[in-house]
Amino acid sequence: MPPVSSSTPESPGRSRPVVSNQSGPHPGLAARIARCRAHVHRRPLPAHARAPLAILDAAIAAHAGPVVLDSGCGTGESSLALAAQHPAALVIGIDKSAARLARAARLPPHPRVRFVRTRLEDAWRHARAEAWPVAAHYLLYPNPWPKQHQLARRWHAQAAFADLIALGGRLEMRTNWAVYAAEFALALGYWGGPEATVETLPPGAPLSAFERKYRASGHALYRVAAVIPRSFAEFG
Ligand SMILES: C[S@@+](CC[C@H](N)C(=O)[O-])C[C@H]1O[C@@H](n2cnc3c(N)ncnc32)[C@H](O)[C@@H]1O
Repeated sequence: MPPVSSSTPESPGRSRPVVSNQSGPHPGLAARIARCRAHVHRRPLPAHARAPLAILDAAIAAHAGPVVLDSGCGTGESSLALAAQHPAALVIGIDKSAARLARAARLPPHPRVRFVRTRLEDAWRHARAEAWPVAAHYLLYPNPWPKQHQLARRWHAQAAFADLIALGGRLEMRTNWAVYAAEFALALGYWGGPEATVETLPPGAPLSAFERKYRASGHALYRVAAVIPRSFAEFG
């Protein structure tokens, strides 16, 4: 069952706003993150993730410049837009969905954009271990998992968030659910990360397919951005 109350960006019609039985940050957020921080899970990288990530290691070495991550890139439009916004960077779009990445593969090829099919948890852990030079990291419209009991599925309430923070760079998360934005900003602090505030995204050209759909449906959109210093690379 899709975790979000909206339709896919490819489907016609208006997207419904997120419906939740939570009206503010989850009361158990701080405790959940404290538990994650106390028991950092270090499962080995699954065998199927190693080859595609090793190909990226080689591409990053050949590029010899900054990397921009588009985590959960979906159909990939945002990765191309980010390549235009970051002219010195190699942009890596990561998603676990074969169907969405098949659409990304039909976009005009860009010499500085790579797509990889893998789980974000694995990509972040590998990128951290290999010290990828991440200058910027975009998490655009992550699945909100809006029911209160789904807290543990949200990225900021998962152990993998420690790896995301350790990658450093300028982190930007966008969402159409105000509660997710508020929680994400709070969570950065609970994880020991930098302070961040929630902004309403000003009008502008959509960066991704979901952003286009949400804008067309009249949703308010939110952004949480923070610069994570390199000193967080040793983050535990
Ligand atoms: C709501 S869509 C947003 C897609 C795109 N960022 C956009 O704004 O159009 C969330 C995306 O995250 C991907 N995703 C969710 N969990 C993931 C995971 N654990 N690893 C990799 N991708 C994941 C989904 O496949 C989906 O494409």
